[in-house]
Order: sequence, then structure tokens, then C-alpha cells
Amino acid sequence: MLTSLVTRNFSKKIKKIGVVGAGQMGTGIAIVGAKVAGLEVKCVDLNESALENSNKFVKNWLEKEEGKGRLTADEKYDVLNKMSFSTRLEELDQTDFVVEAIIENFDIKKSIFEKLDKIVPEDAILASNTSSLSITKLASTVPERADKFIGMHFMNPVPVMKLVEVIKGLQTSPETLQTVLDMAKSMNKITSTARDIPGFIANRILIPYINEAVFALYEGIGTVEDIDITMKYGTNVPMGPLTLADFIGLDTVLYIQQILHTELGDSKYRPCPLLVNYVQAGYLGRKSGKGFYDYT
Ligand code: CAA
Repeated sequence: MLTSLVTRNFSKKIKKIGVVGAGQMGTGIAIVGAKVAGLEVKCVDLNESALENSNKFVKNWLEKEEGKGRLTADEKYDVLNKMSFSTRLEELDQTDFVVEAIIENFDIKKSIFEKLDKIVPEDAILASNTSSLSITKLASTVPERADKFIGMHFMNPVPVMKLVEVIKGLQTSPETLQTVLDMAKSMNKITSTARDIPGFIANRILIPYINEAVFALYEGIGTVEDIDITMKYGTNVPMGPLTLADFIGLDTVLYIQQILHTELGDSKYRPCPLLVNYVQAGYLGRKSGKGFYDYT
């Protein structure tokens, strides 16, 4: 009882949020922010066609939800009214919270956070949806706001996956952590909290598991199908590890595995040579039309 009272006092009320990056992840975050948490959401991307695609995806998705009887037409318009799209970061000047979901490149994220730091209100929280970069290092791009910087790692597809992994940077304040945990709960997500160590919890376990599945294929222990069937039906997961690798993108899997290998310095994280070959051949999974399976 006492704990919950203390916790509530710690938390800051979030009403307006910004999402930078209108790709698959950013669009998903915007959807759960507006539809589930009832927040005002502004989605920003410098690329106009990415914004158009995001806007189209939101409309289609809401229409399908309406078709499934999960929301009324009025509720759909209410969600759409809560969402706006822009190419200008400056329009995030009234937000309480901004989450970045752009490409996994430190220098590009750094330039976005440096700009955001000058735009958003002094007490606004900045978050990154990074799956692999250090939150403490990203927070160093906004030194005056490092206590209000945090990792918020959503899983793909965001509207479906229940988890948000929240990552505390070295300087993240307890108030920032509690505010973000509360906001994730208002999005109907289950949260876990992780320390800022490469891979955090989800990818520290998931990516080596996928890499090991590629080793199993490389060593001829089983076919692609054998490996996926074994894990899908033997451990009750929605997708076998090689299907999941194609879904995530083999380049992303390799990139995260390489980060684990380099930053943790343990040979047990060495990427499977077959995974490297696939990426070098341009077999990136669903997005390229070919990975461990064909999608053409
Ligand atoms: N956006 C929104 N909703 C989506 C969606 C998307 N991109 N893709 C699927 N859905 C919804 C569908 O609309 C459908 O909804 P209803 O059941 O409410 O009607 C539901 O998901 C199921 O979809 P399907 O019937 O088409 O397909 P499925 O039953 O095979 O499920 C799946 C698809 C949800 C992707 C499921 O296979 C799954 O959970 N796979 C595992 C996904 C996973 O592990 N994600 C984590 C990846 S790792 C990560 O994200 C972290 C990282 O840093 C790498």
C-alpha cells in the first residue's frame, strides 16, 4: 500500500507524446499511444513518403479493428484525431515525452537527440527504442537531461506484442523510470526493467538463441523446417527461430550478435558464418524476399 502511494507520487503525468521515426516500430508505438493509452501523439519523420505510409497503415489498421468489432466508427475518428504527422521536429515543442525509433546508428540518433533537447520542454523525457545501443551513451548526447533519458524497447509488431523492456541508463532518475513504467502500463503493456548492458534482457537471450539455430543448420543437425518445427512445437513459441530471424531481418540479427560479441568480448557470441554469408548475399529475410525461406 505504502509502496504504491510512494510510486504514484514519483510519476509524472504524460498527455502529449512525440514519436520520431515513422517506420514499422514508430507507427506501432504511435498506434498504442493514441488508441490504447488515449495520448495525443505526434509522429515525426523527415521523409514525407514514410509519413504517408505510416498514416495509411494507421488508417487501414484502425479500419480492420473496426471491422473486427473492437472499436466503433466514433472511437476510430477519436483515435485519428489524437494522431498527427509532421516532417518538423520543432512541432514537438509541447510534448511531455518523445521516443525515438529511427535507424540503429549512433551518430544519426545523436543529432536527433541534440535537436530535440533544444526543442522539447525542460522537464520532458526523452527515450530511445534502440535494441542494441547503450542508453547511457545515448544519454550523454543530452548531458543536461541525462536523468530524464531512458530506453523503451518495444517488440515487433508493437500493437500485438505484450512486452516493453524498460532500460535504465546510469543516470536515469527513479521518477523517469516510474513515469515510463506507468505510461507503458497505460498502453496495456507488460514491463520488465533491465540494466544498460549490451542486448539488455530480450536480445541478450533471443539473438544468441537465433544464432545457435543458424549454427544447427550450418552443422547439418537438421533442415530449416526441422529446426523450426522442433522449437515451435517443442517449446510452444509462435514462430521457430529461423522464421523469426527472417521476420526480424537477418541483417538486424547479425548486427546485434556482433555487438554482443564485440562488447562482451566472449567467443560464445561469435556470429555463425552462415548468418554472415546470408547477409552478404543480400538474403535478409522477409524484407528482401528471401532469407531461410522464400517470400516471393
Ligand atoms: N501490426 C499490427 N498488428 C499485426 C501485425 C502488425 N505488423 N502483424 C500481425 N498483426 C496482428 C493481426 O492483425 C492479428 O490480429 P488479431 O488476432 O487481433 O486479429 C494478429 O496479429 C495475428 O496475426 P496473423 O493471424 O496474421 O498471424 P500470426 O497468428 O502468425 O501472428 C505474429 C503473427 C503476431 C507476428 C506472431 O507470429 C508472433 O507473435 N511472432 C513472434 C513475434 C516476435 O517474437 N516478435 C519479437 C521480435 S524481436 C524484437 O522485436 C526485438 C528486437 O529488438 C529484435
